[in-house]
Amino acid sequence: MEMQGIWVRRLAIGIGVVALGSASIAGDAAAYPGGTPDFQTDVAPYCAACHSSTSVEDLYGFGDRATAELARNKHFGAIRAGTGPYAALSEANRVKLVELLSAVDRNSTITLEFPPSVVPGSTFQVTVKVTGGAGPSVGVGLVDRPHRFFARPASALGWEVVGAPTVIGSTGPQSAWIERLPEREGRSITFVNVEGVISNADIDKWSRAKIIFTLKAPREVGDYPLVGAYFYGTETGTALSTQMHPEFGPQPLGGALGKSGRVKFSKQAVISVKEADPQPVAEIQP
Ligand code: HEC
Repeated sequence: MEMQGIWVRRLAIGIGVVALGSASIAGDAAAYPGGTPDFQTDVAPYCAACHSSTSVEDLYGFGDRATAELARNKHFGAIRAGTGPYAALSEANRVKLVELLSAVDRNSTITLEFPPSVVPGSTFQVTVKVTGGAGPSVGVGLVDRPHRFFARPASALGWEVVGAPTVIGSTGPQSAWIERLPEREGRSITFVNVEGVISNADIDKWSRAKIIFTLKAPREVGDYPLVGAYFYGTETGTALSTQMHPEFGPQPLGGALGKSGRVKFSKQAVISVKEADPQPVAEIQP
C-alpha cells in the first residue's frame, strides 16, 4: 500500500508537470529532480533526455547535436541569457551561478573498481564510487558503453547481477530505495538511487557514495566492456538556484523541465573473461 501511495503521488506530480508544458514553474516538484524514487529497474541513459552532458564524447557520432547537449550550451546558455526562471537573478548572480554549477560538475565523479580478468560464470564484485551530485539523491547504473543514446544496461552483454546491489551512502549502508522493489520480484538490477546526498558548492562540500554490485561473468570467453553511468543534479547544490518546496524539499530553480540534470560516464572498463591459468605441475626430479 505504501508503495502504491508513493507511485500515485509521484505520477500525479509527473502528469502535472507534463500538463504545464514548457512553462515550467519555479518551485514545482517532480519525480526526476529527486531522482527516480519509484523506478526500481535497469535504466538506460537515453531516458534522461532533459539532462545535459559534460563531454562531447558521450554523444560520439552526433556532431552538432553532441555540442548542443553540453551543459555549457544546453544548461548554462539559458542561465547566461537570463531566460525563463533565471530572469529572477541579477547578471552578476547568473555569472556566479555558472561558476558554482561548474564546480558541482568538476566535483561530481564516477569511477569503477573491477578485476581485470574473471573466470566464465564466476561471481565477483564491482565497486562504483561517486562523488558530488547536488542531491537529495543521485542515480548510478552499470551500462555497456559510454554513450547517452546507445548505452544498454550491462545485463544486455551477459553481466548478470547477483542479489541486491549494496549502497553505502554518506551515513553508511542504506536499502530503503531497493526495498521498494518487492523481494519476490528479484532485486538483481543494474541501477540504484543513492539517497541522502548533500553537496554544497557554496562551502565546497561534496558528498560521497559507494555501490557494490555482485556480478556473474558471462559463460563465453572474451573481453567485455563495463561502464558506470552517473545521473546527478546540479542546481540544488547551491543556494542561488535552490527553492524550498513545503512538501518536496529543495527544488532546482530551473524547474522539473530544466536542463540542470547530468549524465556522466566512468572510463570504460574492459574485463577479460577467460579460463584460469592452469596451475604449474611440480616436476618430479629423477
Ligand atoms: C523532464 C526532464 C527530465 C527527464 C526526462 C529526466 N530527468 Fe532526471 N532530472 C531532471 C532535472 C531538472 C534534474 C536536476 C535537479 C537539480 O538540478 O538539482 C534531474 C536530476 C536527476 C537525478 C538526481 C536527483 C537529484 O536529487 O538531483 C537523477 C538520479 C535523475 N535525474 C535520473 C533520471 C533518470 C533515470 C531519468 C530517465 C528515467 C531522468 N532522470 C529523466 C529532469 C529530468
